[in-house]
Amino acid sequence: MEKVRIGIVGAGNIATNSHMPAYAACDAAEIAAVADINLERAQAFAKRFGIPHAYSSVEEMLANESIDAVDICTWNCGHTPVAIAAANAGKHVFCEKPLADSLENALAVKAAVEKAGVRFLLGVPSRFNPANALARELLDKGELGEIYYAKTSYLRRRGTPTGWFTDKRASGGGPILDIGVHRIDAAWYLMGNPKPVRVSAAVSNRLGEFETLGIQRWQGTPYPDNRNDTEDFGAGVIHFENGAMLAFEAAWAINGPDLQSTQLFGTKGGITLDPLTVYGERNHYLSDDQLNPGPGERFKLEIAHFVECVRTGAETRFPIEQACQLQQMLQGIYDSARLGREIIL
Ligand SMILES: NC(=O)c1ccc[n+]([C@@H]2O[C@H](COP(=O)([O-])OP(=O)(O)OC[C@H]3O[C@@H](n4cnc5c(N)ncnc54)[C@H](O)[C@@H]3O)[C@@H](O)[C@H]2O)c1
Repeated sequence: MEKVRIGIVGAGNIATNSHMPAYAACDAAEIAAVADINLERAQAFAKRFGIPHAYSSVEEMLANESIDAVDICTWNCGHTPVAIAAANAGKHVFCEKPLADSLENALAVKAAVEKAGVRFLLGVPSRFNPANALARELLDKGELGEIYYAKTSYLRRRGTPTGWFTDKRASGGGPILDIGVHRIDAAWYLMGNPKPVRVSAAVSNRLGEFETLGIQRWQGTPYPDNRNDTEDFGAGVIHFENGAMLAFEAAWAINGPDLQSTQLFGTKGGITLDPLTVYGERNHYLSDDQLNPGPGERFKLEIAHFVECVRTGAETRFPIEQACQLQQMLQGIYDSARLGREIIL
């Protein structure tokens, strides 16, 4: 069996700590090259992982390497140009979340991917969490009935990442795009991906820089002249064509407890992800069923899935159409906050 040849773009934290261990566990893939606008970082990454070639741009990598797919792990502002260059060269694309820093850029990626006819997977690993996958199976089997309301939270008390994450030029936005995206997608996926139709939201940047000690923060590389001009909190409501509604909140910093929670409420039953519990009735009595979805590492499952889709041509679990619909919701959140009114999508 020929291995799928991957080129990684962006030799930072997520590529090092999550993607490379997942590729190491995937016999069907090999990393042929790595590129980073910081060539030294690309070279150090190549040396550490035994990758034969390092480049300072995706263009250089595409011109010199025979690869099947590009794995995008750059700052958010790099996702669009790198994805378009890869698709235009006929390469399959695996792109870390969020798809882009704006809806306009997301749609440009969609056009390039569709024109090239390549496979696309958006990297939102919760879709591969055994718990989420089991919850979606229950939904698909009709065990929860019709989901008409969901609420989802990703709140960090003091967890603003450092570096480019807080600079809108590099990130496009704060916790909505960075961590809200994980939970909004988890809820949307478990609702069966209904079509979003309107959004009402607010964002805030009231805590901004803080000097709290004794905390841990995700370390992003610095953007030149790094700013802090993103939101640090956002919340709102998304309505769907089928009448269902999703309330969400996301914070990098807030004066309250850390919280990760997703709850879905259906006509036959409800479900929570944290922990995975189905709320229903049995024999006319209330029942709370805790389910054990078994082991499984989401990044390993996600990367094995992408490699398999490249090999077989199968559609991915997070294709470009859905990635753009998710981006439409994220853009709607920022537009609603900026304009102070509900946005019709
Ligand atoms: N799935 C997850 O759970 C998860 C977690 C963290 C980060 N991420 C995503 O991964 C991406 C990278 O985050 P990170 O924490 O690894 O950041 P990082 O700062 O550690 O690494 C990013 C790297 O990309 C390089 N880069 C930037 N623009 C580039 C371009 N156009 N071409 C080539 N290289 C470029 C930078 O020099 C840097 O080395 C982000 O989009 C982030 O949202 C996903």
